[in-house]
Amino acid sequence: MKRGTLRLIEVGPRDGLQNEPNTIPLDAKIAFVNGLGKTGVAEIEVSSFVSSRWVPQLGDAEDVFLKIDRAPGVIYSALVPNEKGLDRALACDIDKISVFTAASEVFNKHNINASIKESIERFRPVVERSERPVRGYISTAIWCPYEGKIEPSAVVDVAKQLIDLGVSELSVADTVGKASPPEVRALLDALLPCAVPVALHFHDTYGMAIANVLTAYKEYGIASFDGSAGGLGGCPYAPGASGNVATEDLAFAFGASGVEVGVDINSVIEAARPLEQYLGRPLASRLSQVPEF
Ligand code: HMG
Ligand code: MG
Repeated sequence: MKRGTLRLIEVGPRDGLQNEPNTIPLDAKIAFVNGLGKTGVAEIEVSSFVSSRWVPQLGDAEDVFLKIDRAPGVIYSALVPNEKGLDRALACDIDKISVFTAASEVFNKHNINASIKESIERFRPVVERSERPVRGYISTAIWCPYEGKIEPSAVVDVAKQLIDLGVSELSVADTVGKASPPEVRALLDALLPCAVPVALHFHDTYGMAIANVLTAYKEYGIASFDGSAGGLGGCPYAPGASGNVATEDLAFAFGASGVEVGVDINSVIEAARPLEQYLGRPLASRLSQVPEF
């Protein structure tokens, strides 16, 4: 399938699965990534090279990486929190790595056991040694579950530090999934003058993600969006938690708006559907629930 200039970045195998309490078998993860490679997405975030004590579900990152088929033209990436993670990622001949920090101190401490400053220092040798493109995530860019509303200036401050380190792209995340178009505008007004290419990463807890994506695309020309096949993510035991905006819902929303995205909706749903048996619930995306579209 021909890919348009819009880039959809599939984070389902990582963000979508990382919180799942049931162990997803290795073969199912490999089949998922292989299926996603045939959908037209530009990149696939395959797993995380983090501590398996912190994220047990992704403890098989090497096995997944080494056993998947890599589709030509697709970039295969993973999260890397420190040099130990980088060594593991390089041993898998990864295409691109993602370091990840936040605009909120309290969230960052919970997530990676570091202050924002400490996390930037941790990333310095990672970026220096990476010899690959590096994405820099900024979590809690609009709302934080602990600190509430986050000011755009806090995001700009972290963005500048990541850019100084040498990241080639930012992925700016609405971790809570509560952002609205006016908040997205305020963030992008502040961020875009100083930033390297920006991707946006919306969770969809409040059902605002598609509105935010279309606002960012139409009004600001943002052309890279993260999504998760099937809307995977979130935890059924954590009330209010929700997954990423679904990749197929993004593809539909762009298509319905007359924008060529080059991602085949059926193939995305087919890649994610077999996971339902391990999740114990149906996929969350809108498109996976309608008989035809
Ligand atoms: P720590 O406990 O402070 O680190 O964790 P440590 O250096 O003291 O190490 C503790 C143990 O972990 C040691 O093992 C290390 O060897 C091991 P022990 O000696 O005790 O047996 N370790 C590792 N093992 C494998 N790979 C590694 C690694 N590093 C240390 N790379 C650490 C710090 C960063 C490791 C930990 O906090 C961690 O792994 N956190 C990951 C958290 C995570 O993955 N969160 C979810 C992803 S972020 C996200 O979802 C947000 C995003 O989607 C955007 C958005 O929506 O906001 C990106
Ligand atoms: Mg996320």
